[in-house]
Amino acid sequence: MNRFSFHQKISRENTASVKWDRTKEVFGRSDVLPMWVADMDFQPPEEVKKAIEDRIAHGVYGYTYAPDSTAESIAQWLYKRHDWKIEKEWILYSTGVVPSIATAIKAFTEKEDKVMLQSPVYTPFFEMIKQNGRTVVNSELKLENGRYEIDFVDFENKLKEGVKIFLLCNPHNPGGRIWTGEELRKIGELCVKYDCLILSDEIHSDLIYKGHKHYPFASLDPRFAEIMVTCIAPTKTWNLAGIQASAAIISDENLRKTFEAEQHKQGFFTLSAFGIIGMEAAYRHGEEWLDGLIDYLEENKRTAAEFIAEHLPDIHMMEPDGTYLLWLDCRGLGLSDAELRRSLLDKGKLALEPGPKYGPGGEGFVRMNIACPNEVLAEGLERLKRAFG
Ligand SMILES: Cc1ncc(COP(=O)(O)O)c(C=O)c1O
Repeated sequence: MNRFSFHQKISRENTASVKWDRTKEVFGRSDVLPMWVADMDFQPPEEVKKAIEDRIAHGVYGYTYAPDSTAESIAQWLYKRHDWKIEKEWILYSTGVVPSIATAIKAFTEKEDKVMLQSPVYTPFFEMIKQNGRTVVNSELKLENGRYEIDFVDFENKLKEGVKIFLLCNPHNPGGRIWTGEELRKIGELCVKYDCLILSDEIHSDLIYKGHKHYPFASLDPRFAEIMVTCIAPTKTWNLAGIQASAAIISDENLRKTFEAEQHKQGFFTLSAFGIIGMEAAYRHGEEWLDGLIDYLEENKRTAAEFIAEHLPDIHMMEPDGTYLLWLDCRGLGLSDAELRRSLLDKGKLALEPGPKYGPGGEGFVRMNIACPNEVLAEGLERLKRAFG
């Protein structure tokens, strides 16, 4: 029995929750169980809630800066949890990882420059490149024995053509793959060789299942760190997306100054009072809760895998190394993406993310978020069965 109350159902309706209150707008109906957007239906650790509540109780919410202690809490966390030693000065705050991706693109590239990603991948990677007038270069991941692999020949060929930034998603959303030290070294060597900056989005890096290890990319080699922006956040780990807080870690002084200058151009200087308080409390006091969460998610993952294997043999669940996202290969059902969507919504009354949203290679897949009480998961799985069983 988990000593945290992850099994407790808390209604999120009427809280302006994107996941719960926007299904009508996004899926065309409001009677669906939402298992789409990547946030969790859990409250954060008590210490985090208490820190925010105390700040609220104070009642005066004037301009706030992130004190040294916030940077210290991040540095301590990264060292303790991921064996990555950083200097506090390397940290720049940002309201989100997506805003940091946009900032990096604007800071380090010109219009029409090439920015590379690996589809299928988190949709805003595409959006930030396109909306800033840069060119998307896609080195599509290969599916081998039900897992994603990097096509290094294609990867190098694309770099040769002059890519300015490579956006890496590690752990990978939607596939849940954690890239190995060896794979990261190969990527790093190629990016050094072809003079390509790396933005390593490590927002899911605390959500790692047992038997797996996340390698902070920048920690592997000082030459990699010199060409890298690493994005981390407490928001996935401790379910704080609504407080909008993240950090970009940049050890190279020139890169850091250029990135910061771009933030200032946009008028960004600091986080909200609640972002700062919540972030520090999570990094300082969130470890035990996180270990409990991972146990709970592990159980949810097992439940889903067993259910799907038993009742939905034509769906293949990609076993994630990390993240609370299940990437379900539904190609065996022989349905088009439009048909998958219609069955999920009309027959199953279940809102999942459609695979094509993640770019080429996402066709025939759907993404299911299992960060919910086990009772809700059981209901979601029944609905999945109703849709396709
Ligand atoms: C890979 C990845 N990066 C970034 C984000 C969002 O980051 P933020 O809310 O800090 O902008 C998500 C959210 O799902 C994500 O999966």
